[in-house]
Amino acid sequence: MKKTLLLCFLLAFQTMAYAGRGELLYETHCHACHGPEMHQRSHRIATDWGSLLAQVQRWESNTGLNWSQDEINDVANYLNERYYGYSEPGHHSEQNDPVRSRLQ
Ligand code: HEC
Repeated sequence: MKKTLLLCFLLAFQTMAYAGRGELLYETHCHACHGPEMHQRSHRIATDWGSLLAQVQRWESNTGLNWSQDEINDVANYLNERYYGYSEPGHHSEQNDPVRSRLQ
């Protein structure tokens, strides 16, 4: 009995770890309005990594979530891996500047 319980905990924990922060944030805050269909439509607004990041940032601030740059990156990463498949230039620190200046 104890072993079964332990196994349940381990499995639950693994699932949580697998989901990742980007997915959890998206499911919690963004999924109410749209799911996969928004990211798979033919006339996407997000046409590369930079514009995808800008869209995530746009919706994050539209909905007043106050995410950190890390959290925005995680959600953009999650959407990119799951739906868009754009190549991400450089690392996180390099991505921020062009997008920030585009939004200003
Ligand atoms: C109030 C409803 C609403 C919420 C909440 C919302 N979105 Fe959206 N989202 C939309 C609508 C509507 C569009 C389409 C806008 C357009 O076509 O101009 C959109 C478009 C997008 C797109 C562009 C899709 C594409 O490639 O064309 C992305 C990316 C996106 N949302 C991400 C997010 C993220 C991330 C969140 C959570 C922080 C979020 N959205 C929360 C309504 C919402």
